[in-house]
Amino acid sequence: MTKLFTPLTIRSVQFKNRIFVSPMCQYSSEDGFMNDWHLVHLGSRAIGGAAAVFTEATAVSPEGRITSWDAGIWKDEHVPNLKKITSFISANDAVPGIQLAHAGRKASTLQPWKGGEQVPPDHEHGWQIVAPSPVPHKEGTMIPHEVSLTEIDTIINDFKLAATRALNAGFKIIELHGAHGYLLHQFLSPLSNRRSDEYGGSFENRIRFILNIVKATRSVWPADLPLFFRIPATDYTEGGWNENDSAKLSKILKQYDVDLIDCSSGGLVQGVKIKTYPGYQVAFAEKIRREAGILTGAVGLITETNQAEEILSLEQADVIFLARQLLRQPYFALQAAAELNEDVQWPVQYERAK
Ligand SMILES: Cc1cc2nc3c(=O)[nH]c(=O)nc-3n(C[C@H](O)[C@H](O)[C@H](O)COP(=O)(O)O)c2cc1C
Repeated sequence: MTKLFTPLTIRSVQFKNRIFVSPMCQYSSEDGFMNDWHLVHLGSRAIGGAAAVFTEATAVSPEGRITSWDAGIWKDEHVPNLKKITSFISANDAVPGIQLAHAGRKASTLQPWKGGEQVPPDHEHGWQIVAPSPVPHKEGTMIPHEVSLTEIDTIINDFKLAATRALNAGFKIIELHGAHGYLLHQFLSPLSNRRSDEYGGSFENRIRFILNIVKATRSVWPADLPLFFRIPATDYTEGGWNENDSAKLSKILKQYDVDLIDCSSGGLVQGVKIKTYPGYQVAFAEKIRREAGILTGAVGLITETNQAEEILSLEQADVIFLARQLLRQPYFALQAAAELNEDVQWPVQYERAK
């Protein structure tokens, strides 16, 4: 059997293959509600044969959204629409996962297709952004409000409440979004975290916010369900967060009952040059897997079946997250199975095309 189609079990959850749908913001919600767009978008990837289908970054509070069109899970009213989506994904033999997120200082912007500019709080679709320290994301963007210890506790509790709602909505995996320069990453990196209290300074202090969120999430997320963490492997900048920090944190996250590290990078420092090429982040997944002894996911410019198979065969990662290739080709997994001569179940409605 090929590596890509070898099933995997994490806690009580079984994955039929190693192809996971990476979280992808759709900026198509109103007041945080997912809708028919999300049902069809995520549902087609489930029909397309991926083993796990993750929602986009889903905000734990209104201020945690990147744009006011982001999906959210900050109130119980969000749950029924989410349930409709998880039921469809599960009924089509894929595992529904949700990525929980807070954008911090990168919040309050327009959608990318409207230019992605930050919107001031006194304008429609704008609000006061928050961060560990009053350091703007880039020149010309707003200075964030430095969160107080009480506000930190509130955000941690927002993640906990979101996790409870995610469970009620039928999700089987939570991924905490710790990457791409958003709030969790802002606490990790010394470039954005200049605090002098117990949440800033040393490595141990800068990871405290993340560990408290993981603890709070795990306290309500059942022991038989997986918890993933998307890590910002490196800031690609001298004096920033780096690969060794990521490996060290991953080892600790394992002790906190995190099951898999989804290895992304960048997003904190504006304008930094990142050399991208096929599989450019795979080395991070390999390093973390080896040094922290934890399952990892590889992501980033993985577009070919053989490329994905090779990453798994070389034991560089345990699963493959695909984003853009699945926008081009929602049925990638079915096609990959055919290329690798694996006989996988197609939706019965589609069998005549097999
Ligand atoms: C349209 C789009 C939206 C994205 N939104 C998110 C998101 O909500 N959360 C996240 O962690 N990454 C997000 N990403 C990043 C992807 O999950 C992925 O890490 C990245 O695109 C690299 O993988 P790829 O080369 O397979 O596209 C997004 C990417 C795209 C293309």
